Amino acid sequence: MKSIAILGGGVVGLALARELAAHKLRVTVFDPQAPGLEASWAAAGMLAPDSEKHPDRHFRALQVAARDGYPEYVAALEKETGRRVGLRTDGLLMMSPKGTVKDALREPELVWQPALFFPGEYSVDNRLLCAALAQSCKKHRVEFVKAAATRVERSGEVLRVSSEARVLAEADAVVNSAGAWSGRISAQDGRHHVNLDIRPVKGQICAVRADGWKLRYMVRDEHVYLVPREDGRIVVGATMEDVGFDKSVDSGVIAKLLEGAAKLVPKIRNAPIVESWAGLRPASRTGLPLIGATTIPGYYVSVGHLRNGILLAPLSAQLLGQIILGGKTPELLKPFLP
Ligand code: GLY
Repeated sequence: MKSIAILGGGVVGLALARELAAHKLRVTVFDPQAPGLEASWAAAGMLAPDSEKHPDRHFRALQVAARDGYPEYVAALEKETGRRVGLRTDGLLMMSPKGTVKDALREPELVWQPALFFPGEYSVDNRLLCAALAQSCKKHRVEFVKAAATRVERSGEVLRVSSEARVLAEADAVVNSAGAWSGRISAQDGRHHVNLDIRPVKGQICAVRADGWKLRYMVRDEHVYLVPREDGRIVVGATMEDVGFDKSVDSGVIAKLLEGAAKLVPKIRNAPIVESWAGLRPASRTGLPLIGATTIPGYYVSVGHLRNGILLAPLSAQLLGQIILGGKTPELLKPFLP
């Protein structure tokens, strides 16, 4: 195999493009926008499997492996690109009004008792991460084409990728990594059709600026999370809304998020809001990702990462990369094969 088309240039597509280009494949990424501008841009960048408490044990194993591999992945990316991506490894405080653990952590801005401290929860500045991945991709000669692919058809030995208007490319393999939009791409080979059942789950989220004070740890409860950034911003998120392709921001909803955040960290009340936005997480019917080959030879998917796209992108890329390059299916991926 020589050429590969990646449909969707979010963090999942970018990480995969980088992985495959490093293995000398000719990679083209198709996206109607510049890379990393949808859910990958909107995310909070939490790498937090322990406090997410996902009930599926196979998914937890994937999350934990992804988190454990992050520092090394980031170190290599930062070294290669000369960019920082804001990885923070201080940990996370899960707060509860009926705290069971005494505050031994000297975090001065907290009011509620931390119920649990998760020292291994990390965060990354997802916008910086995507910029670094895009730079690395360009260095590896990945081509970026601004177009929305909607159709994939196998024709003889190649897969033809088209938009509504025209044929975009022919490639030896195609990966659908189009996030919340991945269900809009239909694929066929004469015998099989592959149409993905992926829907958007909206998250409204905002950022405040901490002037003259700092939050060291991520802080969360069951409703709201606070993710400090290196530059003094604190990201406060996020809603989960099943409302279709709607990215509007409601000031009342943002006010509620901030109210919830101020219960945990009172200084939030006086912190200036610097940004509010919304993004669309990609959700499969089960809420679990689908990563791997499909019934159409050469057509792969990496979709449905929902609340864990930033966390899972590097590992998904490495594992799916192994499959695409002809290796054995990694055990960790077996529960998530389409
Ligand atoms: N990972 C947190 C969120 O999706 O809101």
